[in-house]
Amino acid sequence: MPPNRRRPSQEFIKDITVVDDGIRPVRHAHDWTRDKLGILTSYLGAYGRACQRAGEFYFVDAMAGPGLYRIEETGEWLLGSTPIALKSAPPFAQCLAMDVDERNVLALRRRIDQFGPRATVLQGDANSDLVGAMGEFVPRNRPSFILLDPEGAELHWETVRGVAAHRQGALKSELLILFATEGVNRMLPVEADIELHNEMALNILFPPQSRWRETWQRRRSGEISPAEARVEYVAGYVRGLEAAGYASVLPREIRRPNGSLVYHLIFASDHPAGERIMRDVFGTMNPNDPQQRLFL
Ligand SMILES: C[S@@+](CC[C@H](N)C(=O)[O-])C[C@H]1O[C@@H](n2cnc3c(N)ncnc32)[C@H](O)[C@@H]1O
Repeated sequence: MPPNRRRPSQEFIKDITVVDDGIRPVRHAHDWTRDKLGILTSYLGAYGRACQRAGEFYFVDAMAGPGLYRIEETGEWLLGSTPIALKSAPPFAQCLAMDVDERNVLALRRRIDQFGPRATVLQGDANSDLVGAMGEFVPRNRPSFILLDPEGAELHWETVRGVAAHRQGALKSELLILFATEGVNRMLPVEADIELHNEMALNILFPPQSRWRETWQRRRSGEISPAEARVEYVAGYVRGLEAAGYASVLPREIRRPNGSLVYHLIFASDHPAGERIMRDVFGTMNPNDPQQRLFL
């Protein structure tokens, strides 16, 4: 993939646009997923260039999916996160991917077969198996980038803490986490009590620093608006990452073309270059912006 992250967003989408490979399953997604994939593609190239002088660097895809997307609104076929990382240049020494679903694991293995021993795809539950697998495949003294991309509230805070503690010595592993803002918000009704299973899930999802219940109570009493509550939930998650030792934590909204919020991507790094590059990528990578889609 060409190096310059200042290229127009649409060019990054072109880099990851493929044809249907006939392998099943594929992941069906909406067009705002183009923003997530564009951000990932753009950042990984820059990350590789920043790490190159230090030697080998590693990619971990905790909830990897099947490796190919079908975008409903545009009919595009786009690479999933593990193939994006494997095609990124300069190359990662090793990409470790995990998914709980056997069909995704088998499809992803077929899709990335060409990359040989540079890729490892494991079937497992990221909340119980990922930290151990990283101990086996990702050296603790090398830079690593970890994508934690759940569908909803299934990523446990303890998992985030565990992967954050993986790298020892110099700097921490960089994290890009999907925080399912809308999904979380739906679990926190204003007119009714929180269902018990949701309460348990939220306690496992949020860091202790989040004070999510306080935010919910302020929302229920009308003290804060729905939009302010969403901001507070994300801010609580950010506080947890800061408490885990990250110097820089950046949230980025992902919105539907009609402007409504879907989720946040939260980036955590303690390298000043990582922060600078991701700030730039978050600010400029909008392939789903209606203006930019004119150039499709
Ligand atoms: C949003 S998709 C990932 C998409 C992928 N990162 C991409 O961009 O191509 C989330 C994936 O997480 C998987 N998953 C859900 N819970 C999991 C868990 N506890 N451990 C590992 N994978 C899980 C699902 O099977 C699904 O494939």
